Amino acid sequence: MQHHLTGRLIAVASAKGGVGKTTLALGVAWTLAHVTRAARVALVDGDPQAGATSALGLTPPDAPLHAPAMMVDGLAVHRSSRALALARAAELDAWLQAVRVNSDVTVAGLSPALTDAMHAATLRSTPYVLVAARCDAMGIPNVREIVALLRGNYGAYIEDLKKRKGPDADQPHRIKYKKLVR
Ligand SMILES: Nc1ncnc2c1ncn2[C@@H]1O[C@H](COP(=O)(O)OP(=O)(O)OP(=O)(O)O)[C@@H](O)[C@H]1O
Ligand SMILES: [Mg+2]
Repeated sequence: MQHHLTGRLIAVASAKGGVGKTTLALGVAWTLAHVTRAARVALVDGDPQAGATSALGLTPPDAPLHAPAMMVDGLAVHRSSRALALARAAELDAWLQAVRVNSDVTVAGLSPALTDAMHAATLRSTPYVLVAARCDAMGIPNVREIVALLRGNYGAYIEDLKKRKGPDADQPHRIKYKKLVR
């Protein structure tokens, strides 16, 4: 029997680090599994820093897109590691799709970077986004930024970013290293 949440993806994002994304993603996933009783809840750690993976006491895998899910307290946890930052959007699309077909609901905790490939894969495939924010001076501008991004077209946002920062602005190796001159 299908649950009314079948196939849904809930992304947890923020334009700033350390504001509670991972905590919120864990709490929402746990609540869906144990309170609303969705039968199959997947938690995707979509942050190369692997905050959710570590919080659950799991080992970050060498190849997160090919690592098996680990069952933790009723959640199918798809772990992350630094290697996630090297994945392309198409690979991430396929990964998320595979997770979603095997879940009633998928909760994806993201990194603070709004323009990485994981955001592109996640935000363009779901209208359900929870935004974490802290009640401090930067809280409102940070929420405003992500709401503007979500209201607009993510593709248009990336195109604009490429115009401003170059054609590889959405690629993992965007940071250019200058030769160190002593
Ligand atoms: N609602 C809250 N109230 C107070 N503290 C919180 C709340 N949610 C999370 N925290 C605390 O804030 C810190 C950061 O939380 P968390 O790791 O969930 O943030 P994050 O946005 O995922 O961070 P990062 O961007 O580094 O991944 C942790 O110490 C956590 O315990
Ligand atoms: Mg986090």
